[in-house]
Amino acid sequence: MKVVDIYKLAIKMGIESDFRGKDGVQKLLNDKKKKFESLSEKDKEEFDKDALENPYLDSGIYNISEDKEIKKVLVGIDISPAEILMAKELGGIDLVIAHHPVGKGLAQLADVMELQADVCNYYGVPINVAEGLMRERISEVARGVNASNHQRTVDAAKLMGINLMNSHTPCDNLAAKFLKNFVDERKLERVGELINALKEIPEYKEAMKIGVGPKIFVGSPENHCGKIALSEITGGTEGSAKLYEKMAQAGVGTVVGMHISEEHKKEAESAHVNIVIAGHISSDSLGVNLFVDELEKQGIEIIPCSGFTRFSRI
Ligand SMILES: [Fe+2]
Ligand SMILES: [Fe+2]
Repeated sequence: MKVVDIYKLAIKMGIESDFRGKDGVQKLLNDKKKKFESLSEKDKEEFDKDALENPYLDSGIYNISEDKEIKKVLVGIDISPAEILMAKELGGIDLVIAHHPVGKGLAQLADVMELQADVCNYYGVPINVAEGLMRERISEVARGVNASNHQRTVDAAKLMGINLMNSHTPCDNLAAKFLKNFVDERKLERVGELINALKEIPEYKEAMKIGVGPKIFVGSPENHCGKIALSEITGGTEGSAKLYEKMAQAGVGTVVGMHISEEHKKEAESAHVNIVIAGHISSDSLGVNLFVDELEKQGIEIIPCSGFTRFSRI
């Protein structure tokens, strides 16, 4: 496999596990195409053509120094110039794969957040309400990432001649789908049972060793779970705090997430929604593992770094 094949596989797997379904994602791409075609020549030049093929603009290829067959990959959650130097020092690394966005992917993180409105709609929140609440939050995130030094890691990869790509939302989609199936298969009645079930997953078991295993942030082990929503695993970053009330009205009793801010925690508390935090880097590792399993099947060696805990399911 070449870098482009690995990247295309990530996008394909992301689409296949997307809450919106394959058709839903295709419709989104078709709408973007229609929008592009209606633009003036000048606006067409400024339009990001990647958006016509890739529904996850927080993921991409940032540097191809050598277009060779990939045999060994350094995979991490956060890739900074330090990891790029490590790749060079370790030797024999054909490609570095990051989970969290870098470069243009980081600049366009907010673009994938529309997915969250669809996920909330999937769990019963009217789409107009979810969209209205998310719109505000999406523009807030877009402004927030605008100030970053986006190209720092990309520049390092170019200087050191290291191939670099990232897969963010595709991997988070894989984690969300895995966890959704995992939870749906079990008849979990109480929040404590949900926590115990999550602790069976190797990535969370490993995280427990350093004190960051699954935890209840809102609610208690005796609380009934009610309907469990996997609404905070994928979709860029934290959504709108005002959505908890709408989720509760839609019949959701418990939300499983990767991480939660204090503002969101307070809103969840007043909406009486239980919040189970599975863990951030552990949940990211789960999604990345499901992706790199497919690379390992192709004979590619995976070297984990930067918080990524490797567990193979093949
Ligand atoms: Fe993630
Ligand atoms: Fe993350």
